[in-house]
Amino acid sequence: MLVSGRGSNLQSIIDAIAEGRLDASIAIVISNRVDAAALNRAKDAGIETACVLPASYPDRQACDQAMVDLLRPSDVELVCLAGYMQPVRKPMLAAFPNRILNIHPSLLPAFPGLHAQQQALDYGVKVAGATVHMVTAKIDAGPILAQAAVPVLPGDTVDTLSARILVEEHRIYPETISRVLADAGASR
Ligand code: GRF
Repeated sequence: MLVSGRGSNLQSIIDAIAEGRLDASIAIVISNRVDAAALNRAKDAGIETACVLPASYPDRQACDQAMVDLLRPSDVELVCLAGYMQPVRKPMLAAFPNRILNIHPSLLPAFPGLHAQQQALDYGVKVAGATVHMVTAKIDAGPILAQAAVPVLPGDTVDTLSARILVEEHRIYPETISRVLADAGASR
C-alpha cells in the first residue's frame, strides 16, 4: 500500500483483514513522507514500512523505480493507494499493469485532483461520494470499480462532507479489493 498521510483507509483495510472480511495480507506500506501517521498504523499492525522520499532521488522516475524495487520481492498482486498524494509514474505503471487501485473522495469523473470535497461544495452538487478506480497515467481517470454516494446537506463544510464520504470510503475500499482479488484468482 502507498500512503502519504493520516491512513484511515489503510486502517479500514487492516481492520477488514483482521475481521475476516478481506482475505489478503499487506506486504508493505510505503510512504513518500516520513511524518505520515499511516506509518504508525502499519507498525502497530506489525506491517513492514518504508519511506521513499522524492528528494532522495535524481528524478521522479527513479523515485517510482525505488518503489517497484521494494514491492517486487513480495510478489504483490495489487498495489493500493490510500491517501497517496503524488502521481504514479511509468516505472510503477509498467511493473503493475492494471494492478494499481486508488480511492478518491468524489464521484469521478466529477472533481478529480486535490480538494475534491471543496470542489463539490463550490459547485453546489447535491450528491457527493467516493470512487475506487484503477490507476492509469492520467490522474483520477482510470476505469471505475466502485462508487458510493452521499447527500450534500445544507450547512455542510469540507469537514462534515469529508467525514460522511469517509464512512463510505472505508466500506467500499476493502470490499472492492476483495472483489478484485477474487476475480483475479478466478481467472488464473
Ligand atoms: C481520502 O479521502 C482519500 O479518498 C483521498 O485522501 C484521503 C486520505 O485519507 N485520496 P486517509 O489518509 O486514508 O485517512
